[in-house]
Amino acid sequence: METSVFRLVAKTTAGLEEILAEELRQLGAENIELLTRAVSFDANQKIMYRANYEARTALRILKPIASFKAANEDKLYDEVSKIHWHSYFNVEKTFAIDAVVGGGRFTHSQFISYKAKDAIVDQFRDRFGERPSVDTNDPDLRINLHIFDDQCSLSLDSSGDSLHKRGYRFVVDKAPINEVLAAGLIMLSGWKADMNFVDSMCGSATIPIEAAMIAMKIPPGYFRKTYGFMKWADYDQQLWEEVMHEADAKISTIGFDIIGSDRSAKAVEIARQNLEKADLLKEIQLFKKPMEELLPPEAPGWLLINPPYGERLEELDLKALYSSIGDSLKRNFKGYKAWVISSDFFTLKHIGLKPSKKYTVYNGPLECRFVCFDIFAGSMKEKKTREAEQQRE
Ligand SMILES: C[S@@+](CC[C@H](N)C(=O)[O-])C[C@H]1O[C@@H](n2cnc3c(N)ncnc32)[C@H](O)[C@@H]1O
Repeated sequence: METSVFRLVAKTTAGLEEILAEELRQLGAENIELLTRAVSFDANQKIMYRANYEARTALRILKPIASFKAANEDKLYDEVSKIHWHSYFNVEKTFAIDAVVGGGRFTHSQFISYKAKDAIVDQFRDRFGERPSVDTNDPDLRINLHIFDDQCSLSLDSSGDSLHKRGYRFVVDKAPINEVLAAGLIMLSGWKADMNFVDSMCGSATIPIEAAMIAMKIPPGYFRKTYGFMKWADYDQQLWEEVMHEADAKISTIGFDIIGSDRSAKAVEIARQNLEKADLLKEIQLFKKPMEELLPPEAPGWLLINPPYGERLEELDLKALYSSIGDSLKRNFKGYKAWVISSDFFTLKHIGLKPSKKYTVYNGPLECRFVCFDIFAGSMKEKKTREAEQQRE
């Protein structure tokens, strides 16, 4: 078993860096540093495997192998050529380069990845008379090239496919939320997995499934079969199995309700198929109902919804929809904490309640607000007193 310590970078979406850092700390990572949409940390091979299997808010776990400055494409080619690529893979293996380019000096990520690919292929050809092939779908080795201005870093991608591909979601309805973002929002909301959880606009059921997996301590990688590191020369299958067994041994049951509901029959059928894949049909109750008609379990409870935003779903009257969300909250969700994510800042106001907490997160390229409403359970008089107190604070 390799016990040496090396630096890793875990990538995530903007706004989830601190949640990811805490997850990694609990998995044994040390010297954690917050970056933009990423976290870097010290790990050994076991922690790298754990991060891939257990970190719910990580998109990829990268192992940096070189960093350098390159002012232009030729310099980039020279620097990539200096790395001894045959120590990472050989001509029989396939590879792919994911280039992420920012800062303005380089603009075309595809051209950059071709340039880096040429440097690697030319090195193999010069040395061995043969070259490895490129396979962008299922390569043996995925290489990540990150460039910001003239600062470049090359990493091996230990995850392979993005970790949001958990392996339970085969069918999606319109505008599904990314699994990593769904888990991150649940964690950011502060739900302690100790009370009823409702998503009254569940679509494909990503949020209820991630909530159940958190509550039952089902590792996010539980349904996934492959990771990039499995094709690395130093792959330690025994260590990997130990990591999985240790995590799987913590799986438990739930003692409260998790509910998914949607007004669309198609969405509910898709949700049902996903619950079946995730083996959570018994743990999550599904309803086909408009939110306005859903009667949730008694408080205390947690609601987390991802309503249509407009950009991604055509909604005839978003203002009316958001105002009806507010009415349903006031009428049926007394004593709940209600969290809503939306990129539609103006329309969010039509919920008609004052948020008690607010975060900025990104759903893909869309800047979103993730806001909390405390739905007060008492009489109108008590509510007014409390609101007056809140304003004085
Ligand atoms: C952005 S999608 C949710 C996507 C979901 N989080 C997923 O991962 O698939 C919004 C969902 O809200 C549902 N919806 C819109 N208005 C509704 C209402 N009044 N009551 C219940 N569901 C509603 C739509 O049918 C759609 O499935």
